[in-house]
Amino acid sequence: MTGQPMRELGRTGVQVTTLGYGAMELRGGSRGREIPDEQAERVLNAVLDAGINFVDTSPDYGRSEELIGRFIAHRRDEYFLATKCGCMVAVEQVEGGPRHVYTRENIRAAIEQSLRRMHTDRLDLVQFHGSPSKAELEEHGGLDELQALQREGKVRFIGASSTLPHLADHIAMGVFDEFQIPYSALQREHEAAISAAARAGAGTVIRGGVARGAPSEDKQWGTSPVGASGPAPKDLWEHARLDEILPEGMSRMEFTLRFTLSHPDLHTTIVGTANPEHLAQNLAAAANGPLPADLYDDARARLATAGSAPAGS
Ligand SMILES: NC(=O)c1ccc[n+]([C@@H]2O[C@H](COP(=O)([O-])OP(=O)(O)OC[C@H]3O[C@@H](n4cnc5c(N)ncnc54)[C@H](OP(=O)(O)O)[C@@H]3O)[C@@H](O)[C@H]2O)c1
Repeated sequence: MTGQPMRELGRTGVQVTTLGYGAMELRGGSRGREIPDEQAERVLNAVLDAGINFVDTSPDYGRSEELIGRFIAHRRDEYFLATKCGCMVAVEQVEGGPRHVYTRENIRAAIEQSLRRMHTDRLDLVQFHGSPSKAELEEHGGLDELQALQREGKVRFIGASSTLPHLADHIAMGVFDEFQIPYSALQREHEAAISAAARAGAGTVIRGGVARGAPSEDKQWGTSPVGASGPAPKDLWEHARLDEILPEGMSRMEFTLRFTLSHPDLHTTIVGTANPEHLAQNLAAAANGPLPADLYDDARARLATAGSAPAGS
């Protein structure tokens, strides 16, 4: 399948599919499900076969980078490759200690490792992981080092995986080409911040765009969007009485993904899945584009009444 809708990723000028792929589900190990190699190979290649051209990963995601290197490095020109830095690569993780460190040494070590693991000579986008404060980014030289790696041609664009309150500072710094931001119908805190990032000329990459599958039949609300605050997703859905307005034939998952895609300032949403059938469903939903305007407006009003509103509104 090709012909997926595309948008320009802010000032990078790169055209990306509005449905991207988040490769965290492939991590395995103690924090994820075990994914057999054949399944990872199948899903990663299905992503590219479908025409998705944006792949997001991180040194923090277990085997994810390694699997990308093994199974799709030979198709490197078909995807814009985004990873992260600040993860513990040159620094040993101690219990109770920080999960990310933004020193020059640790930033460089992460990028060298990502290049090796993913069998590539360039990373299209490297994002600071963990939404550090502006001071943390600057005081140990982490930002300077990432910019040095950019000048060396190892990194094309720089970004930040960012959340409020630090996101506002990150936008004001004016150095980032892109921001990765959590957002869905069930997690609307960053709705206005996404627009602020786009207005500043940055690319916007949305994570959590299907609310971790929470409303799907197989997940049965057994998961929640990462970092969601406020009412539980199921309560929100029920209080907003969203089932009442679902058009005939539209699943809750299609509604959720298309709600995310309806954000006017979204450039891509990196939906994660290790399941080829879910990938096919998401592709079909994304091909239908944003929700009809009247349905979108009604849903937003209902969600606001139920307690899901953008920060500051
Ligand atoms: N920067 C950060 O701090 C950060 C944090 C979290 C994630 N991320 C990035 O963002 C990506 C997505 O984030 P996310 O995993 O939090 O959110 P998400 O994309 O909303 O949710 C992914 C989850 O939804 C399930 N899913 C996907 N399509 C489905 C479908 N059609 N039906 C039922 N379930 C479905 C997947 O399970 P199945 O495998 O069963 O389909 C997976 O567990 C990650 O892969 C990662 O690249 C970044």
